[in-house]
Amino acid sequence: MPIIAPSILAADFAHLADEVRAVEGTADWVHVDVMDNHFVPNLTIGLPVVQSLRKVTSMPLDVHLMITDPERWAPGYAEAGAYNVTFHAEASENPVKLAKTLRAAGSKAGLAIDRDTPVEPYLELLPHVDTLLIMTIKAGFGGQAFLPEMLQKVRDVRRRVRVKNLEVRVEVDGGIAADTIEQAAAAGADAFVAGTAVYAAEDPAKAVRALRALAEAAMVRK
Ligand code: DX5
Ligand code: ZN
Repeated sequence: MPIIAPSILAADFAHLADEVRAVEGTADWVHVDVMDNHFVPNLTIGLPVVQSLRKVTSMPLDVHLMITDPERWAPGYAEAGAYNVTFHAEASENPVKLAKTLRAAGSKAGLAIDRDTPVEPYLELLPHVDTLLIMTIKAGFGGQAFLPEMLQKVRDVRRRVRVKNLEVRVEVDGGIAADTIEQAAAAGADAFVAGTAVYAAEDPAKAVRALRALAEAAMVRK
């Protein structure tokens, strides 16, 4: 079954509780993009917002850390009750150790691969993580165009997950919308982040349902 994870990066930051409630019951996870103006040029939200969101929704929080020094900061998000905490391969000195720390702190552990990073060197780490996030844009900003050439990474990860019989979610993030989600699903993704496609829509819940239907159909077909 696909996971649909609306990204609140495209939501109204002055009304985050309402924006999350708008997809409660239709979406699976709420995707929270943390950017630190170091790992990426953009600056978004941090731990206090996650702590506050935890109190207003029972939806699983999928925290995507686009930050330097995740060893120092990531465990705090697990302790705050995030369902999944994903850090970037490019920013981590010891991804396996950090994944263990996150699991011990009570969350699932995710590893993200940015646009310019090959996935090959990280395939052997798959048994140590719960989520492998493939960026289908360059991390840093919402609203960018989907890069279909990233799908080869998705295929490579999916193949390894299948061959080794692993329980790893293969998540795609960036430019996922009604016109791109099927190809991502057909390539082997089973978790889909969507910011603009959900929150710029007139009816976010309806947009989530439409994305889910497209992903489901493409996953069954392949
Ligand atoms: C960007 C973030 C994405 C962003 C996606 O670096 O990681 O999660 O919200 O936004 P859309 O879906 O608009 O590309
Ligand atoms: Zn993200």
